[in-house]
Amino acid sequence: MPVPSILFPADPLNPRRPDPHFAWEARLVRELGGEHLLVDHDALLAGRAEEAVRRVPRGSGPLWYRGWMLPSARYAEFAAALTARDGNLLTSPPGYAAAHELPGWYGAFEGATPPSVWIPTSGAVPPTPEELAEAVARLGGSGAAIVKDYVKSRKHEWHEACYVPELADLAAVGRVVGRFVELQGEFLAGGVVLRRYEEFERADGPDGPDEDGGDAAGAAGGERRAVEARVWWLDGRPVLVGPHPDAPHLQVEPDLTEVSALVRRLGCRFVTTDLASRADGSGWRVVEVGDGQVSDLPRGIDASGLLASLIAA
Ligand SMILES: Nc1ncnc2c1ncn2[C@@H]1O[C@H](COP(=O)(O)OP(=O)(O)OP(=O)(O)O)[C@@H](O)[C@H]1O
Ligand SMILES: [Mg+2]
Repeated sequence: MPVPSILFPADPLNPRRPDPHFAWEARLVRELGGEHLLVDHDALLAGRAEEAVRRVPRGSGPLWYRGWMLPSARYAEFAAALTARDGNLLTSPPGYAAAHELPGWYGAFEGATPPSVWIPTSGAVPPTPEELAEAVARLGGSGAAIVKDYVKSRKHEWHEACYVPELADLAAVGRVVGRFVELQGEFLAGGVVLRRYEEFERADGPDGPDEDGGDAAGAAGGERRAVEARVWWLDGRPVLVGPHPDAPHLQVEPDLTEVSALVRRLGCRFVTTDLASRADGSGWRVVEVGDGQVSDLPRGIDASGLLASLIAA
């Protein structure tokens, strides 16, 4: 049986080398006896998948990707261009979309993740007030919430474009969602998601406690962030438990008993789950799920077990 090679984005300035962000992973793959190959991320994003994979040899067999996030449609073109060269991405396009986009994974994790609703949009057009009111009603009509798209939030613009203090204030919901859509612009993925806000355990960031007393601003503003563990799953097994890349110094040891079954239910081979502990001590919550190929690995983490599992899978 051929063993998988790993595809990395090439350095845009030097296409024979891996992108500097992924160079340490590529080096580690080589040290572990694996093979890495390079693809052109800019060409992939621009919809020129055939050109993007021209450095991948024909008949390269099973492949994993470790790189920048791709919209699901671009990933599907990527997979097709590799298939045309007799290469086989081990995560199928439907599998990628299921782990990458909230509506794809939400069903498998419902009950273990904050209650969420979504409104598909076409491009960067905000939902109508009627669509928002209907979504808010589905979410229970009151209480705090956060806004994101199918993939990403604007957590660094927390008050402006992420946090909704009170869903019953529909005008305020409209303002935060409107600003979110405006800032995402052409990068808005899929549509607008509203999630009930939950209080997670926080830790002081490197700059010390939040100056304004630690309200929700700290959750993503950088001062008192929610402590999250990023768990990397391959074929239903946790192959690496580490910190979230935003806070690589914060180590947590989540209880994985419940989430293991949910990852198996999702049925994707290589995924990550970001887990946070509820502030009231009532247990671990799944903040989000991601495709393992495009989840960021915190610098300094020992990724040899993870990468060794990938090239043996
Ligand atoms: N339902 C929620 N309740 C409370 N806080 C939340 C909730 N959802 C998200 N957050 C906070 O906002 C942050 C960003 O949310 P999320 O992880 O969903 O977005 P993201 O932009 O995909 O982030 P990243 O990819 O960097 O992990 C989380 O790390 C968490 O601190
Ligand atoms: Mg996150």
